[in-house]
Order: sequence, then C-alpha cells, then structure tokens
Amino acid sequence: MRARAGGRVGSGAPSRRVRVALGERSYPIEIGHGSLDAVGPAVAAATGAKRVMLVTVPPVARRYAARVERSLKAAGLKSRRFVVPDGERTKSLAQAGKLYDAMLEAGADRSSAVVALGGGVVGDLAGFVAATLLRGLPIVQVPTSLLAMVDSSVGGKTGVNVAQGKNLVGAFHQPRLVWIDAATLETLPPRQLAAGLAEVVKHAAIRDARLFARLERQLDAIQALDPAVMVPILQRNCAIKADVVARDEREGGLRMLLNFGHTLGHAVEALRRYRGVLHGEGVAMGMSFAARRSEQLGLAPAGTAERLVGLLERIGLPTELPAYPRSAYLEALSVDKKKRDAHVHFVVLRGIGKAETRPLTLAQILPAGAGGLGGGAGRRSAGRR
Ligand SMILES: NC(=O)c1ccc[n+]([C@@H]2O[C@H](COP(=O)([O-])OP(=O)(O)OC[C@H]3O[C@@H](n4cnc5c(N)ncnc54)[C@H](O)[C@@H]3O)[C@@H](O)[C@H]2O)c1
Ligand SMILES: [Zn+2]
Repeated sequence: MRARAGGRVGSGAPSRRVRVALGERSYPIEIGHGSLDAVGPAVAAATGAKRVMLVTVPPVARRYAARVERSLKAAGLKSRRFVVPDGERTKSLAQAGKLYDAMLEAGADRSSAVVALGGGVVGDLAGFVAATLLRGLPIVQVPTSLLAMVDSSVGGKTGVNVAQGKNLVGAFHQPRLVWIDAATLETLPPRQLAAGLAEVVKHAAIRDARLFARLERQLDAIQALDPAVMVPILQRNCAIKADVVARDEREGGLRMLLNFGHTLGHAVEALRRYRGVLHGEGVAMGMSFAARRSEQLGLAPAGTAERLVGLLERIGLPTELPAYPRSAYLEALSVDKKKRDAHVHFVVLRGIGKAETRPLTLAQILPAGAGGLGGGAGRRSAGRR
C-alpha cells in the first residue's frame, strides 16, 4: 500500500490516492472533493467495460446519480440505473435476485461493470451481485457514507443477510476502483456521520496513535467536513484498512483486529434486533467496553479507556452498554459466528494505537460482577446518544 498526495481531482481541492496491494487484484482508492463528475473516465479505465449497471438507493440517487451518469456518458459508457429500497433489509437474496433479473433484462453481459453508489448496504449488495452475476463482473465502489468510505468499500467483502443472521451469505470480490468524493458527506445525516466516525476512531485506536491524537485535535474541523482536514483523514483511514487487507485478505489473523469493539457491538445490535441502534453506535459501546476490559486484564495502561471514551463522547456516540442482564449478553455472544469452541478471538487494546487478539472464554470477557454492563462499575449511566 502506497499513498500519494498532491493530485487534483474534481473541484480543485487536494486529492489523494491509496493503493490496495493485492497482486493482480490490486486497485486504487481515489479520494477527492467534488470529484464525482470525473468518475466516468476512471470507471472506463479501471474496468474496460462498455456498459454500466449503476446500483443506488433513493436518498443518494436523488442527489448524485445524474452526475455520475453524465460523467459515464461523457466517457463513452452506456449506463442503466437500478434503485433499490433504502435500509439494511435491502441486503437480501430476494433483492439480489431482482437485480439479476433486471440487469440481465437490461442486457448485462461480459462487457458490463457494476457501479455501487451509496452506503455500505448498496456496496455489499451490489458487490455480491457483481461477484455472482455471470460468474463475476467488475465492480467499482463509489461510497457516499463515511462508514462505506473508510470501511466497507475497501477489502472486497460482499454479502447479504439471511434469516439466521447478518452477512452470512457472501463472497470476496475486490473492486477494480474505489472512488471517494468527500463532498458527498455534506448530505449525510449527522447521526450517520457520527456512526462512521466510530470506525475512524477504531482504526486509530488499533493501529495509529498519531491519527488518534489528530482526531482529538481536529474533531471540530472533521465534524464541519473541512476538505483540507477530511481528505487526509479519509486517506489515512483507507490506508490502514488497505494495509490490513493487503496483509491478510481472507481474515486469518491481522484482519481480525478490525473487529475491535465488534464482539459486544454485534451483541448489542442483535439484542436490539437491529432497530434503533446504528452499527457504529454498537461499535462505540463495544470499543468502550473492550478498552475498559483491557485495562482490567492488565493489558492496557491506566487511562487508555478514558481517552477512548472521551473522544467517542465528544463525537456524541454512546459509550455504555445498554442494561440487559449478563445472561442476555452471554446468549447473544454465543451465537456470534466468530466464536470458536468456547473461545472468542477478543480484540484487546495494549494502549492507544496498539491492539491484539486474545482467545478468551465468554466468562472471561464478561466475568460475573464485572463493570461495564448496563452502566455498571460506577461510570456514567447508559442511554446517552
Ligand atoms: N463489506 C464490509 O467489509 C463491511 C464493513 C462494514 C460494514 N458493512 C456493511 O455496511 C452496512 C452499513 O453501511 P452504512 O452505515 O453506510 O449504511 P447505509 O448504506 O444504510 O447508509 C446509511 C444511510 O445513509 C444514507 N446515505 C448514504 N450516503 C448518503 C449521502 N451522501 N447523503 C445522504 N444520505 C446518504 C443511506 O441511504 C442510508 O439511509 C451494513 O450492512 C454492514 O453490514 C460491510
Ligand atoms: Zn464495523
């Protein structure tokens, strides 16, 4: 993975590139500001396609699809737009099936490419369709949510949800190109922006103490979406994700560090039945818990959790697990698909910027009487949002 600075894509604001180094399947992540109007030639060059199947959702289509289509057309590409319903429920086999039919009807063939324009839901669904339709079509990810920019669009994981759980059906399918226009964040709802920042904090907490300090210093400019601050922050985050993915494409070891905060985060999401809590909010609670637990286990120096929780609270993210009984958490954790035997590969912090996995039993993760559940251990109470 290499990073490059100083280019110009789009509105004249600085642009940056990160390369995901995966041999023949390497690809660039292009990060610009106002760069959506320049995506067409890049799609043509990255895919060699003649025809584009553009997948998006109404809130994004309304604002951005016409610009993408104009740019594709100017680059000599035909395109068809497929608008799927907004929301997590659209990540389904039924929706994938509808897309197969509609795309084939629209003339999808080996010279076609898929472009995903939207958040992680669109990226995962369109990625899965691209991985499977005609045994695999090239895909370009054009993420428009912060979570999708720094996390889901990079790394090639695609998939849909089934009744038994989230993301249980899917495929690894690396994109040919990730095209980020940071200006699209201006229309992202603030709560979604905060949820995306949880993953940004996660990257800093597990891999990059300097980034963590930068987030603490520049949070106001980040929340104001100042391009001069935001573009380099996106670049650094994509570089961290790209580096982890390049070293461990299929989640052998290193990639597991990206699950920091996700063990308890997923449990909270499941206990709330995926309603009323965003993924990033669950991750914020899970990271806060894991950081405190890391200190209690003597793995992280005192003060580590306080710094992490402090930053998450400034962002406006929840940092206490909701008050379900311990038995409910144990139950939720034991159905986590990442569970191996009685152990969970639990990601602990060794300090800000440094993480590792520990094989812990559920009882070690959630010892009876330990703090951290439901606003226990005398910390600020739950329910902050
Ligand atoms: N593949 C991976 O490696 C990976 C990693 C993390 C998460 N995910 C998946 O990502 C999904 C969550 O992604 P998400 O948080 O982006 O949710 P999302 O795709 O539902 O987007 C959140 C909301 O913001 C809207 N939106 C997106 N961009 C916008 C913009 N620029 N302006 C206005 N509205 C905009 C969307 O329409 C939606 O309503 C989950 O399904 C999760 O499983 C995948
Ligand atoms: Zn996540």
